[in-house]
Amino acid sequence: MILQGRLLTRGDQDPRPGWVRVADVRIAEVGFGEPPETAAAGGPDAIICPGFTDAHIHLPQLSITGCEGGDLLTWLNEVVFPAERLWADAAFAGVAVRDAYRRMLAAGTIAYAGYLTSHQAGVTAVMKAGQEAPLRAVVGQVMIDRHAPEWLLTGGEGRQLARLACSQRGRLALSVNPRFAVACSDDMLARAAARAAEGAVVQTHLSESRRECDLVRKLFPGDEHYAGVYDRHGLLHERTLLAHCLHLSDDEWRLIAERGCAVVHCPTANTFLQAGLFDLDAARRCGVRLALGSDVAAGPDLAMPRVARAMIEVAKVRALAAPDGSSVPVPTPAETWDLITRGNADVLGFEDTGRLEAGASADLLVLRPGLPPDRYLVARLIYTWRDEYIDRVVLNGTLIDPRTPPVPPS
Ligand code: GUN
Ligand code: ZN
Repeated sequence: MILQGRLLTRGDQDPRPGWVRVADVRIAEVGFGEPPETAAAGGPDAIICPGFTDAHIHLPQLSITGCEGGDLLTWLNEVVFPAERLWADAAFAGVAVRDAYRRMLAAGTIAYAGYLTSHQAGVTAVMKAGQEAPLRAVVGQVMIDRHAPEWLLTGGEGRQLARLACSQRGRLALSVNPRFAVACSDDMLARAAARAAEGAVVQTHLSESRRECDLVRKLFPGDEHYAGVYDRHGLLHERTLLAHCLHLSDDEWRLIAERGCAVVHCPTANTFLQAGLFDLDAARRCGVRLALGSDVAAGPDLAMPRVARAMIEVAKVRALAAPDGSSVPVPTPAETWDLITRGNADVLGFEDTGRLEAGASADLLVLRPGLPPDRYLVARLIYTWRDEYIDRVVLNGTLIDPRTPPVPPS
């Protein structure tokens, strides 16, 4: 199958007319100029680019997008936990995952790192949906054993870990997701670490709201700081994704950099919950690996270009508020574009995703944005993004019309 269009290989490079040959699930060839045969999708006016990766999303929370309800801890209790309770029902979870997959594909997301609920049903639902729409995923059942309603508490057993790790031809892996230190006793964190020792990715939240940080200090009085709680259990390593990290001390930044963790910045969520403004400068100074997440539904935007725009805007607000604005870095649209394609994919361990090159997995977008293909194209895409820009999605080598996806409503 040939796709024709201007090839947007990197955010800072002008898109040149060319074509991509897809064979089975991979990009077999990338060429410039006229395509060697009739294209199956695209055309001279189309843009071909890698699909987007979301480095932090809660699938069960799509249904509560936009439901404001106080700060993080209040919102979790009053809005999130009641919604997550519904996933105890396997049929409900099945429908919800299919809906999530449909909406993610419509927004150009072909890969993600995510959270389910504390119920086993979500894992089964994700496995089933992945057979029809094999989004590339590292996703886990949430572990939580306190500070939540009794009906959400569970051990989050990992029986399916080994089987899932190699299921669906490497498109799906199960991660270990201790929700956050507030909701996990020492015993639960130890169990999470034991499970992760088998080689799984660890996903958790760190230092998102001030009230959460105060509570963690009270719950773990013997630990030097919040990051230290996870570190004491051996949960900080190269396979750890730490969402938010808004109120870290210099020692915590140094520690997570030393351990090789990745920090997942979720700018839309941080604004929604008024949790804080991410310190990009600190992240860069310490050299931590950075990814970008929608954090739906604390983040109201599923589309990663919108999250990228929010990353720029949060940095600009920080720069405006800083006594010496010039010392606050503001990422360019090109940098954020590279982050939501190649950068996020690399952090999630999907190193052959998020790029337009021979040998990479064929997870691509054919865009028809009707925008001039000039040097502002990427900035225009980021600032004016609408899902209607997507004409076709190529998911694991299969051409999809996002308006009639392979996971139709049940
Ligand atoms: N911290 C613990 N759980 C959550 C969650 O579901 N969303 C966000 N934004 N933060 C959390
Ligand atoms: Zn989250």
